[in-house]
Amino acid sequence: MKKNITILPGDGIGPEVVSQAIKVLQAINTYFNHDFDLKYGIIGASAIDETGSPLPDETLDLCLNSDAILLGSIGDPKYDNDPNLKVRPEQGLLKLRKSLQLFSNVRPVKTYDILKGVSPLKEHLLENVDMVIYRELTGGIYFGDKVLSEDGSHAHDSCDYTTHEISRIAYQAFEAATLRRKKLTLIDKANVLETSRLWRRVIQDISKEYPEIDVEYMYVDNAAMQMMQDPENFDVVLTENMFGDIISDLSSVITGSLGMLPSSSVGTKTALFEPIHGSYPQASGKDIANPMATILSVAMMYDHFELYHEASTIRKAVDWALEHKLATEDIVRDKSEASPCSKVGDTIAWYIEEGGKID
Ligand code: IPM
Ligand code: MN
Repeated sequence: MKKNITILPGDGIGPEVVSQAIKVLQAINTYFNHDFDLKYGIIGASAIDETGSPLPDETLDLCLNSDAILLGSIGDPKYDNDPNLKVRPEQGLLKLRKSLQLFSNVRPVKTYDILKGVSPLKEHLLENVDMVIYRELTGGIYFGDKVLSEDGSHAHDSCDYTTHEISRIAYQAFEAATLRRKKLTLIDKANVLETSRLWRRVIQDISKEYPEIDVEYMYVDNAAMQMMQDPENFDVVLTENMFGDIISDLSSVITGSLGMLPSSSVGTKTALFEPIHGSYPQASGKDIANPMATILSVAMMYDHFELYHEASTIRKAVDWALEHKLATEDIVRDKSEASPCSKVGDTIAWYIEEGGKID
C-alpha cells in the first residue's frame, strides 16, 4: 500500500519518541511490503523559534495533503509561566485539529499483566480493564470565545456545543460499543452545565437506535472517583473536549504510565496519531522517554488504513518487549534495569524484522 505521511516530531521528547516509532513503521513496511512516503514538518515551540508561528502554513499544507500525520508532542516550559504571551506552542496543535476537523479523539486504555505492579492501583482492580475514551476534540471550551477585559480584571472562556458536533462523535462511540462490551458511559456535568444537558439529550435520542447498548450517565467528578475505584466498569467512555483531556490523563494511572497511551484523532479526511503525553521537557535529549505510546499510535495508524495484521504485529512486538523487561524507566520497578528509549525502538523494530518469530 502507498501512503503519504506527515511526520511532526514537535518539542521536548517528541523527536526522540517519533524516531523510535519510525523505526517500527519502516520495519513493518519492509516486512509487509508497503511504501509510505514520509515528509517532515515543524510545529509547536520549535516552529515558533524558527518562524514565529506554532503552525506555519507550510506545515498545514503538508498535513492537508497527506493521508495521515504522526505527531510527537508539543510544549516548552519557557511558555508555561508567562500568562501574557500571545503566541503559544499548543496553539499549533489546536489549529491543526480544527483545520483538519479532527473531531473524534480515540484513546484506548488497557492494562498489561507485566505492568500491574507499576500501577499505583491494587492489582485486583486491574484484571479486566479495557476501555476506550472518545473525546470530542474540536469544540467546547477549548475553542469558544476567550476574552480578557481591557483593564485585566475580568476574563471569560465560553463553552459551546451544537447537536451536530455532539452527534457525529456519539455515533462513532455507539458503533465502537456495538463491537465491544456494549456499554457506553457519557461523562458530563449535567447537574450544572447547559452544554452537558445538550449532550445528554443528544445521547438519549441516539441511544434509541442502539437498544442493545447499555448507556450510563455519570457526572465528571464522580467519574474521576469511579475510574480509580472500579476501572473495569468502563467500556466506551464518551465525553466533551475538556473533560476528555483530564479523564484521559487520569486513566493512564490505571495502565501505570502516561508513556503507554496512544491516540488517534479522526475527522473527515486526514487522521492524526499521537501519544497522549506531553513534551516531558525534563527528559528531553536524555534518551529515557518511553516511546511505546508513539509506537502504539503507529499501530492505530495501520488500523485506520485497515491493515489489521500490521497493527497487531506492532502490539505483539510491544507485548514481547514488555515481557522481556525491555522497558524505559517509567515502567520498570528497579530503575537500574531500565533500557534507553532508542534501545526499546531498535529492539521492537528488530523483532518485527525477524518476523519469523511472530505467527
Ligand atoms: C492533549 C494535550 C493537549 C490538549 C494540549 C497540548 C493542547 O494535553 O492532547 O491531551 O489539551 O488537548
Ligand atoms: Mn492532555
